[in-house]
Amino acid sequence: MTDSDFVPLIKSGKIERKIKQIAKVLDKKYGQEDVCFVCVLKGAVIFYSKLLKYIKNKNVELDFVEVKSYCGTTSTGEVKMLKDISIDIKNKHLVLVEDIIDTGLTAKFMCEHFKKQKPKSILMCSLLQKPDKLSVDLNMETLVAFNIPNKFIIGYGLDLDEKYRNLKDILILKENK
Ligand code: IMP
Ligand code: MG
Repeated sequence: MTDSDFVPLIKSGKIERKIKQIAKVLDKKYGQEDVCFVCVLKGAVIFYSKLLKYIKNKNVELDFVEVKSYCGTTSTGEVKMLKDISIDIKNKHLVLVEDIIDTGLTAKFMCEHFKKQKPKSILMCSLLQKPDKLSVDLNMETLVAFNIPNKFIIGYGLDLDEKYRNLKDILILKENK
């Protein structure tokens, strides 16, 4: 694919200004309470590392979970957990850091999975959401940086078959590509 196959949607400068605001919201919400920030691999990795640099809370633990539900540009409808966390989240606030909420299946799956470990609270903090695609009742607290149209996007951690995660802006893949 070439540059002409993609249309810019959100530039990195705008994304980073918004991430700073999200960090402030999270610091205000939790203060110095115990918070576990769990990165949902692989898509959230860039958002997560930027966000954590701005969090001022000293009582933060980090961990990673890996799930997969997409094949090419469509959701398979089935969420698979490839890697679970190893820290103890009992009685601590849990913040799941995601790249995007699309159908909502992954978010719902993770919420149900982590609820069993009895965290004090669960928040899904996602860089993006496609509100028109939501197909489940999420029934969890969410904090979303940008709502976007129902288009397949790449960059800033998001991939198409594992490529383009390193691109600094968020780009729309032109239809019929
Ligand atoms: P959901 O389970 O349908 O909400 O999808 C969540 C996962 O699908 C996200 O965490 C992404 O990894 C992936 N995904 C959804 N939409 C896109 C997209 O437009 N581009 C790249 N990945 C996407
Ligand atoms: Mg993801």
